[in-house]
Amino acid sequence: MNRNNLEREWHELSMPWIKEAREGRNPTRTGLLDKPMLEACGNVEGLKILDCGCGEGRFCRILADKGAEYVLGLDLCEAMIEAAAELQSGNDVYRVANVQDLSFIEDEAFDLAVSYLNQCDLPDFEANNREVFRILRAGGRLIVANLHPMLSAVGKWYRTDKGEKQHVILDRYFDEGERHWKIMGVELTNFHRSLSTYTSGFLNAGFSIEAITEPTLSGEQLALYPELRDELRVPNFIIYTLTKT
Ligand SMILES: C[S@@+](CC[C@H](N)C(=O)[O-])C[C@H]1O[C@@H](n2cnc3c(N)ncnc32)[C@H](O)[C@@H]1O
Repeated sequence: MNRNNLEREWHELSMPWIKEAREGRNPTRTGLLDKPMLEACGNVEGLKILDCGCGEGRFCRILADKGAEYVLGLDLCEAMIEAAAELQSGNDVYRVANVQDLSFIEDEAFDLAVSYLNQCDLPDFEANNREVFRILRAGGRLIVANLHPMLSAVGKWYRTDKGEKQHVILDRYFDEGERHWKIMGVELTNFHRSLSTYTSGFLNAGFSIEAITEPTLSGEQLALYPELRDELRVPNFIIYTLTKT
């Protein structure tokens, strides 16, 4: 799959994606991932933050609201960046860019970088790691939320005849490469890699791995987001906290 096709897919998906982000309940974000992502980011007051694959900018706005001095959101998809710029609050700025090449950013310009469900979309996640490592100051951190490798391998529930979910069968785990899904009616390509490929990639770029988190639900969250109950059974997401030491 070449770059133009990947861009075309995100362009097609951008309208329903933006609508859902702005008007929908976004349970996997608001009910599951935002909290551990913000905990991993820590106190962002006064920080310069890069968001790789920012989409329509929701996490940039959250970081700006929490006192970040400057948030730069990058996305390959022009429609996403236009939508993000519409809600810009002042210290969050947006730019169309491929996060595998950050040559327009000086070395050590940022304190923190986030990648909120973006590395699974990249043909070359190691290029993103190398570039983010370069633009972070010493001691800076990269927080990566990604599809869990156990989900990105196959990601399909087997159901009874009555449609009840039985289990997810893990298969093709070591067969890394493209996977094709249908999201909001649009065909989308992303890339499956094993846990060891991801962790080796981070270490090869020079990062230390501070933590690996597999978000699931507390009883309190389940009461608020009953539609997320499968998260108690199968890990859908993973968060890596990485430091440039
Ligand atoms: C799953 S969405 C996540 C968006 C946002 N981070 C969020 O959590 O709502 C992935 C985003 O990555 C963008 N993307 C895909 N490949 C990219 C690339 N090579 N460089 C920059 N952005 C990319 C897509 O356009 C899309 O907006």
